[in-house]
Amino acid sequence: MATDPLLRLDGVSKVFDGGTIGLDNVTLDIAHGEFVSLLGPSGCGKTTSLRVMAGFESPTSGRVLLDGKDITDLRPYDRPLNTVFQDYALFPHMNVSENVGFGLSLRKLPAAEADKKVKEALELVGLSDKIRARVSMLSGGQRQRVALARALVCSPRVLLLDEPLSALDANLREQMQIELKRLQSRLGTTFIMVTHDQAEALSISDRIVVLSRGRIEQIASPSELYDAPTTRFVADFIGSMNVLDAEVLETTAEGVRVSAGPMIVDIPAECATAAPPRGASTLICIRPEELTVQTFPSEHTVAAQITSTVFYGPMLRLFVEISGGQKLMIDIGRRRSTETFDAGTTVYVRTIRGAGRVLGQA
Ligand SMILES: Nc1ncnc2c1ncn2[C@@H]1O[C@H](COP(=O)(O)OP(=O)(O)O)[C@@H](O)[C@H]1O
Ligand SMILES: [Mg+2]
Repeated sequence: MATDPLLRLDGVSKVFDGGTIGLDNVTLDIAHGEFVSLLGPSGCGKTTSLRVMAGFESPTSGRVLLDGKDITDLRPYDRPLNTVFQDYALFPHMNVSENVGFGLSLRKLPAAEADKKVKEALELVGLSDKIRARVSMLSGGQRQRVALARALVCSPRVLLLDEPLSALDANLREQMQIELKRLQSRLGTTFIMVTHDQAEALSISDRIVVLSRGRIEQIASPSELYDAPTTRFVADFIGSMNVLDAEVLETTAEGVRVSAGPMIVDIPAECATAAPPRGASTLICIRPEELTVQTFPSEHTVAAQITSTVFYGPMLRLFVEISGGQKLMIDIGRRRSTETFDAGTTVYVRTIRGAGRVLGQA
């Protein structure tokens, strides 16, 4: 990173009363103006990370730094960070303008100035016409926007968002993802968003932090995370992946040749940095779209039986079993679906050039 990080978690651990480990030695740098997502399954420590950043939870060990200054012991209200909570936490007895202006009134801002800021914040989220509306009269999407406006009105250095879109239905959710990203680029404010939805994290983030059991599994850009998972957990968690036991047959300057049962895969060197020496066993991963099928055998194909198919609109997913019992998922484009892929059909599976990746630890 060219400049110092804006926010840093430095070896943060959180052990709750009763001994549950929320976070286990998490070190994480967030740069100025970044959109970072914390992604992982339920219970992996996403909310705890956010609460430690916000100051609602104090770490058992480790520090929180903002602009290089230790803010670990600063109260939430004294930190230039704001949180959008999962359930929005709006005040039902106040109207939209009162909800948005609440933080400003705590800060004792003169009324005229506060009014102006509330109006600006509501304009940002496209809710200017609802300024006097009662919160109870608003739709889920509108409440979401009020919560956003309320968090943005104090011009925080960092906006923390805990599953901000999880209560919205699929179409609205997709629309709000685009709006959230646009808003963030326009403001240039650092956004840190918690989500358990990988598609959401992939589509919206500059970087993604994958958490599992309170630990960081990988930090990477969306495309890097998809193309180059470094752990089995990430390979399994992001997108669909075939993870196969394999044996290293040969290592050359171009890459590594491995066998996964009867399947021979040539993995390019840049995807095989984790490969063990020749003869050793390893794990490899291949995306379903990196495999293809044909109806006749040829060089480098292996015979497989189709066990089932799933129609996904733009593509068809084949579940097949190759000899030895290895199961594979294969995605093929719709144009191929004129061919019959009934269960029981024999097909010949080929790996496309440059496919596959060595994961290492078998
Ligand atoms: N206040 C608490 N007391 C005890 N355990 C907690 C508390 N908050 C969270 N935990 C536990 O810490 C772990 C991480 O929780 P959390 O950060 O909420 O996960 P996530 O947001 O990723 O679903 C879970 O095992 C959860 O049960
Ligand atoms: Mg949570």
